[in-house]
Amino acid sequence: MSGLPKVELHLHLEGAAPPAFIRRLAAEKHLDISGIFDARGNYRYRDFRDFLKVYEAATSALQTPEDYRRLTLAVLEESAASGVVYSETFLSPDFCGGRDLAAWREYLHAIREAAEEAERKQGIILRGIVTCIRHFGPEKARETALCAAETADHWLVGFGIAGDERMGAPKDFRWAFDCAREAGLRLTAHAGEWGGPDSVRDAVRDLAVERIGHGVRAIEDLALVDELAETGIVLEVCPGSNVALGLYPSFRAHPIAELDRRGVKVTVSTDDPPFFHTTMAREYEELHRAFDWDEGQFRRIARQSLDAAFCDADTRTRVAQKLEA
Ligand code: ADE
Ligand code: ZN
Repeated sequence: MSGLPKVELHLHLEGAAPPAFIRRLAAEKHLDISGIFDARGNYRYRDFRDFLKVYEAATSALQTPEDYRRLTLAVLEESAASGVVYSETFLSPDFCGGRDLAAWREYLHAIREAAEEAERKQGIILRGIVTCIRHFGPEKARETALCAAETADHWLVGFGIAGDERMGAPKDFRWAFDCAREAGLRLTAHAGEWGGPDSVRDAVRDLAVERIGHGVRAIEDLALVDELAETGIVLEVCPGSNVALGLYPSFRAHPIAELDRRGVKVTVSTDDPPFFHTTMAREYEELHRAFDWDEGQFRRIARQSLDAAFCDADTRTRVAQKLEA
């Protein structure tokens, strides 16, 4: 199963940085962030809030467009090795130039150059989704949305929100989402990870998103599950992330299979793979082991993911050919 072609819709670019890569950058910059690593050199964190702190400390080593060019190449090489043929990655103007539009353009240019190089070398196709960060607050999200709106095109295809779901409410970010939608960007929001079913309802109602990042806690309210199935809202499910952060004790206890059985459009992603000791290949292996999913099931999910991708029709056709190859 792990060799099958895959489509990934939920990947944070900084969160995909291998710890050795971040250590090397930090050493180059004489930055001491040794406290975020354990004795074996992996990222170390206690819980979700601590994970966000460690994530931001690791990101502090990424300081220039060139750093992001190298990061993008490293991340796409790993994704391609896992069989990913198409990936959408979250990009943060907060970390790429502090929400300054001119700086953001330079970071974006470097990331896109790396993506073109990876596509030439490995055939993997990347598209970007700008994400604002919930715990940075609605004012910063407005600036982030303006960066996204100014750079929206066939490559920068979406807008979303990540960060600490327990702070603020989706409606606080309505201006940012309206701004992104008016610029032609497609919308997704993290919800139903640390918030319950109502957090999913709020994101759908107040931000009019068509995809939800995680959304798995919808399973606690079967009326909501039916609603998601009927309206075709897509869940970007990251099972290994949820298990690593302690939301569920194991893959077997994860609701992805039940959501799928009940007709919800589920997809499979890694979120922040090195933080959660996972890869897309490992997600497939664990899902096969936990739920006996077979090749047909994985091919159906990859096609469902491609249908939910924010890319244009030409790109979708090209990726479909890769899935069928
Ligand atoms: N940023 C990076 N990973 C995240 C996650 N799993 N939830 C919320 N924000 C994040
Ligand atoms: Zn995420």
